[in-house]
Amino acid sequence: MAVQPLFVLAVQSNTVFNFTSGIDIENSELRPNGDILLTTFTKGRLYTLNPNQKVPKAELIASLSDATALCGITRIAYDKYAVIGGVRGSYHYDNETIYTVDFTNDASNPVIKTVAHLPAAIMLNGMAALPKQPQIVLIGDAALGILFRVDTTTGAYKVAFNNTALVSPAGSSMPIGVNGLKIVGNDVFFTNSASGIFAKVPISDDGTLFGDVEIIATMDTSIGDWDDFILDSNGVAYLAQPSLGVARLFPNGTHSIYAGGIPAATSIQIAENGGVG
Ligand SMILES: *[C@@H]1O[C@H](CO)[C@@H](O)[C@H](O)[C@H]1NC(C)=O
Ligand SMILES: *[C@@H]1O[C@H](CO)[C@@H](O)[C@H](O)[C@H]1NC(C)=O
Ligand SMILES: *[C@@H]1O[C@H](CO)[C@@H](O)[C@H](O)[C@H]1NC(C)=O
Ligand SMILES: *[C@@H]1O[C@H](CO)[C@@H](O)[C@H](O)[C@H]1NC(C)=O
Repeated sequence: MAVQPLFVLAVQSNTVFNFTSGIDIENSELRPNGDILLTTFTKGRLYTLNPNQKVPKAELIASLSDATALCGITRIAYDKYAVIGGVRGSYHYDNETIYTVDFTNDASNPVIKTVAHLPAAIMLNGMAALPKQPQIVLIGDAALGILFRVDTTTGAYKVAFNNTALVSPAGSSMPIGVNGLKIVGNDVFFTNSASGIFAKVPISDDGTLFGDVEIIATMDTSIGDWDDFILDSNGVAYLAQPSLGVARLFPNGTHSIYAGGIPAATSIQIAENGGVG
C-alpha cells in the first residue's frame, strides 16, 4: 500500500525521486503541467513533484488539517483536486473527510477547503470524478464494500453502489476490498485487493451504476494483490502490484508483470512522454 521511491518505467525502470525519511506514498494524480501530486500516509502530507527537473524533488504542499493519512486523489477541475483524508487506524479510519486543493489562482499555493465529512465511511481508498460532472466523485470504501457518491460542492453524499464484488472475502488476511477506482467512458473499473479481481461495471453520465459487474481478470492472491492502476487509451491497464512491481493487463484479461523489482508499488500514472510511473 505504500512506500517511498517513485519510478518511471520504459522498458527499464528509473528512480525519479526517493524520500529518504520513510514517507509512505499512497496515491497520485497528474497536474496539467506534468507535475505529480502525491498523497501520503505521513502526517496528512500532500506533495507535488516535477519529474522533468534535473534532480526531481518532492515539495510539500500542505498537511491537510486533522488528517493523519491521505488516500485517493482525483482532478475535479483544471488544476483542482479532491483528496481523501482521515485518521488512520488498523484497516479503519476515523473522521473520513474530503478536501479540495485548488491551484487555479496560484500554481504553488493552493486554496484548501474541507468540503465533506463522511461519518458512515470506514476505509475510503480510490476515488474518481464523473467525466461529465467532475465535481461529483465516486469513492470506494474498502471495508464496507460500497461506492459512495460525493458532491464536492455541497458535501452531500450517499451510497451509489453496494455489491459483493467490492467486499473483501470473509477471513481475508488483508481485508481491503475495492481499492483502485477509475471511470473511463461508460464504465467504472476497480480492483479488489483481497479477492484479487480487476472488474468493471457500467455507469451513466450522471453517475448511476447499472448492469452487472464484469470480472475482467482474477489474480493469484497467494503471490500478491492489485492496488491502484491506470488505463491507457487502448484500454490496457497498468496495475501497481506491491509484491512485484507493475502488472500489465489487456482488455481480454491476459496479464503479466510488466516491470518487476519495484518494491511496494502503490500508484501509477502515464506521463505524456509515454512513461508509466
Ligand atoms: C530509498 O531510500 C531508502 C531510505 O529511506 C532506502 O532504504 C532505499 O534503498 C532507497 N531506494 C532507492 C530505490 O533508492
Ligand atoms: C474526529 O473529529 C472530531 C470533531 O472534529 C474530534 O473531536 C475527534 O477527536 C476526531 N477523532 C480523531 C480520532 O481524530
Ligand atoms: C450493502 O448491502 C448489504 C446486503 O444487502 C447490506 O447488508 C449492507 O448493509 C449494505 N451496506 C451499506 C453500507 O449500505
Ligand atoms: C489478449 O490480448 C493480447 C494483446 O492484444 C494478446 O497478445 C493475447 O494473445 C490475447 N490473449 C488471448 C488469450 O486472447
